[in-house]
Amino acid sequence: MNIGVLTSGGDSPGMNACIRAVVRTALRNKNNVYGIYYGYEGLIDGKIEIFNEKSVANIIHRGGTILKTARSNRFLEESWRKTAAQNLKKNNIDGLVVIGGDGTAKGAYALQKECGIKITGAPGTIDNDLFGSDYTIGFDTAVNTVVEAIDKIRDTAESHDRVFIVEVMGRDSGQIALNCAIASGAEAVLIPESKHDSENLIRILSSGRENKSSKIVIVAEGDEGGVKITEKIKNIFPDLDVRLTILGHTQRGGNPSFLDRKNASILGYEAVIQLLSGNSGNMMGLINGKLTLTPFEKIAKHNNLEIDYLNTINNTLS
Ligand code: F6P
Repeated sequence: MNIGVLTSGGDSPGMNACIRAVVRTALRNKNNVYGIYYGYEGLIDGKIEIFNEKSVANIIHRGGTILKTARSNRFLEESWRKTAAQNLKKNNIDGLVVIGGDGTAKGAYALQKECGIKITGAPGTIDNDLFGSDYTIGFDTAVNTVVEAIDKIRDTAESHDRVFIVEVMGRDSGQIALNCAIASGAEAVLIPESKHDSENLIRILSSGRENKSSKIVIVAEGDEGGVKITEKIKNIFPDLDVRLTILGHTQRGGNPSFLDRKNASILGYEAVIQLLSGNSGNMMGLINGKLTLTPFEKIAKHNNLEIDYLNTINNTLS
């Protein structure tokens, strides 16, 4: 086959490890492989280059994506998807591996359905909000970055008896916020999936400081992100020493963790093997270490916040 590979949507640590696995697996099974730059945007504009072993040397440890990425509005339109398909045909590319999140899967579904191109995918997003995978590529690195940052913030919070509001990423998903709240011993967490429980937050902030003189409240970005929550808290508790830290894009970059490198390598390998076996239309995933195939149309954003998990949260936060 002639296999193309692209990354699309927000970058995430481990995408490079995945690209490397795709390229190496394709080449070692005697196929040609093409790097497509800037995701679906680059596919529309024909930014396509033949890749060899050297193209992916020394990238497994690097964050970001050597293929660059973009969020493509043009690709939402059928006419531009046709242009993209023509560019694939022009280069004789008959199989495509896409690495990205929900939007990437939606684009792959439409392209495959309309143009008959064989596509497989690997889930790459720090948000961990896709069906069919315990951990999306990049999530583990992102949560480790956040936990490390909160550990540092805790030192200052504790030294000054302060309340810190820490805003983390996840516009529609509380996965980063919840997991980091457990792992950093936060006092409270606010996520987009549940209505903000102001009463509980007020109770936590009003409670004494016998056990800890600091308080950390983790807030997922979104409608009511860190800035608004901080303002509210300052108004309700004028005597508290409150500070806001927005971690922002520090969460998206950085060298991928062991888990992200390993999962990305397995998922990239499988994405090519499935294509070569004539099995397309699916996003690869790992659940309990076992390969899962989820059709692109079923990958859609979700939150897998399970009941047991919420109990853990309620019992470990103060
Ligand atoms: O999808 C990953 C993510 O980092 C989300 O958590 C965040 O809401 C969004 O991307 C921000 O995207 P960008 O910085 O590309 O506008």
